[in-house]
Amino acid sequence: MKLPLPLLPLLALATRTVAAPLDILDAGAAALSAVEHWLAPDDSDVRAHLVIPDGDESAPIPELTVSQGYSAHHGGLAGICNLRARGGGADDTDNFVNTMKRCGKNSVIFMNSPVYNIRRPIKIRLENSVLSLRGWLTFSDDIDYWIKHAFDLGFQKQKLAMVVSGSNFVLNGEDTGGIDGSGQAWYDHARGVGNVHGRPMSLALVGARNAIVTNWSIRQPQFWAHIVVDSDDVVYESCYVNATSTSGSYGEKSWLQNTDGIDTYRSRNVAINNFVYQGGDDCIALKPNSINIAVRNATCVGGTGIAFGSIAQYKGVKDVIENVVLQDIKLYPSNQCRGYQGVYFKSWIGEEVGHPPNGGGGGYGHCRNVSISDVYMEDIDRPIALTAGLTYLDEEHGKHKYGTFKWSHINITRVRATATGNRAIWLDCSPAQPCQHIRLEDVVVTPGKNDHPEIHQVCNHVEHSKGDGLEACKPNNSTLESDTGGTM
Ligand SMILES: *[C@@H]1O[C@H](CO)[C@@H](O)[C@H](O)[C@H]1NC(C)=O
Ligand SMILES: *[C@@H]1O[C@H](CO)[C@@H](O)[C@H](O)[C@H]1NC(C)=O
Ligand SMILES: *[C@@H]1O[C@H](CO)[C@@H](O)[C@H](O)[C@H]1NC(C)=O
Ligand SMILES: *[C@@H]1O[C@H](CO)[C@@H](O)[C@H](O)[C@H]1NC(C)=O
Ligand SMILES: *[C@@H]1O[C@H](CO)[C@@H](O)[C@H](O)[C@H]1NC(C)=O
Ligand SMILES: *[C@@H]1O[C@H](CO)[C@@H](O)[C@H](O)[C@H]1NC(C)=O
Ligand SMILES: *[C@@H]1O[C@H](CO)[C@@H](O)[C@H](O)[C@H]1NC(C)=O
Repeated sequence: MKLPLPLLPLLALATRTVAAPLDILDAGAAALSAVEHWLAPDDSDVRAHLVIPDGDESAPIPELTVSQGYSAHHGGLAGICNLRARGGGADDTDNFVNTMKRCGKNSVIFMNSPVYNIRRPIKIRLENSVLSLRGWLTFSDDIDYWIKHAFDLGFQKQKLAMVVSGSNFVLNGEDTGGIDGSGQAWYDHARGVGNVHGRPMSLALVGARNAIVTNWSIRQPQFWAHIVVDSDDVVYESCYVNATSTSGSYGEKSWLQNTDGIDTYRSRNVAINNFVYQGGDDCIALKPNSINIAVRNATCVGGTGIAFGSIAQYKGVKDVIENVVLQDIKLYPSNQCRGYQGVYFKSWIGEEVGHPPNGGGGGYGHCRNVSISDVYMEDIDRPIALTAGLTYLDEEHGKHKYGTFKWSHINITRVRATATGNRAIWLDCSPAQPCQHIRLEDVVVTPGKNDHPEIHQVCNHVEHSKGDGLEACKPNNSTLESDTGGTM
């Protein structure tokens, strides 16, 4: 069987993921085989269920060409849709949404123009389809408009700019395109304040099954760049996120805050491979109910590192993080943002104080079965850190009892890191729920300062076991270098 040319590179990805030991990495292969399946010209069963774009002219889109049926060039039965930008600064949102309505099933959609202007929130659905985007979906920066109209995520009262759902689909930025969030306006708007209301996330996969986002860039995200919600079997392959501000100067983290790279939420079987991030917040964050997550080969430049949490923010609600593998991770500061944390864990205080996004607490649950290995970090303020007493309300810091969220079975292996200060390892677990089975092996974290060796390795309420690599890690309630600038 002949495959459409744009799918050929994806087959290489399939081979690579199949070879990996974890089931969840097979997700990519599953998505691909589904795409491949519908292309088989001799599969009459599938053919019977095909809904080929019908060229219906009821909503004419002059910039769209649709061919249908068997295409020798594309090697199968498919809709072949080609959407050009209108050009001249015109709004492409309606064209894009209507094209997806017409071509979002059993099709390959090409978008080869350099810029598509997006002026309103987008919800699209893809089934057995590939979106090949060589240009940029450039979002407008009309802040008042977006605050009013962006979609609600629910969690932490956050907002979404673009939502993709469906199954067996590929979003391919072809290594040249993706989303331009026009984030500068948002960075200036939110200067100095975390979680400013209404900043929308650039790209949300919601209710996606067997999906791949590949070679897809998000530059200048408005808020978190990617989030995957209520989804299963999703692969982010060779994605790139870059948030840089032209108006901040070095160290002013707050001007780039909330520019997370990829967040996972209520999803399982998510793989993130070969990811590159620059920005001012979490490179990757595992939010509540992230299960079976594998991150391999991520480079994070500037920001707060790789986060487990925040979690247990909602009173009486159980959250979990389970079965996580992080491998081959590199973290550096950027020329405009410190490296605040390396790999860190954060659960909320034990009672509800204020409301999300910046307040809350009193949730419960657990994070367990985490394996982190082969990590290199340079000049990171707190390379390995855990807090069980999180709140983002500055005036509430240190005033409340720690939570009951349980952190356990976390292995950290082969780490070479340099810290900027004394706090190389800082595990501040809860007296109500001590950390258990935390195991460090071949972990070398060199403090950047030596004036307070008593806080080089702090383990509060950590249950030690023989050979856990934490022999030198002692309790200490010193507050030296404990101001994290609201980053944890
Ligand atoms: C991503 O782009 C690179 C460079 O163009 C290419 O070599 C690679 O095959 C692509 N990967 C996928 C999965 O499309
Ligand atoms: C991010 O973008 C800035 C500005 O264009 C650039 O200087 C920097 O190298 C980029 N970072 C990465 C990791 O590509
Ligand atoms: C790690 O990811 C980067 C960025 O996608 C890529 O250039 C590099 O080849 C990857 N390394 C390995 C060993 O796959
Ligand atoms: C722990 O996680 C790994 C990797 O995700 C998985 O293979 C393994 O089955 C998990 N173990 C348990 C006891 O769930
Ligand atoms: C951590 O390492 C220990 C000792 O090698 C092993 O028994 C345990 O299964 C590992 N746990 C995880 C979560 O990888
Ligand atoms: C700090 O710990 C010491 C014992 O190590 C204790 O005497 C002291 O009260 C503690 N201080 C605070 C503020 O908890
Ligand atoms: C804890 O740290 C403080 C200040 O950094 C130091 O004075 C004290 O000796 C330390 N306590 C222990 C038990 O090491």
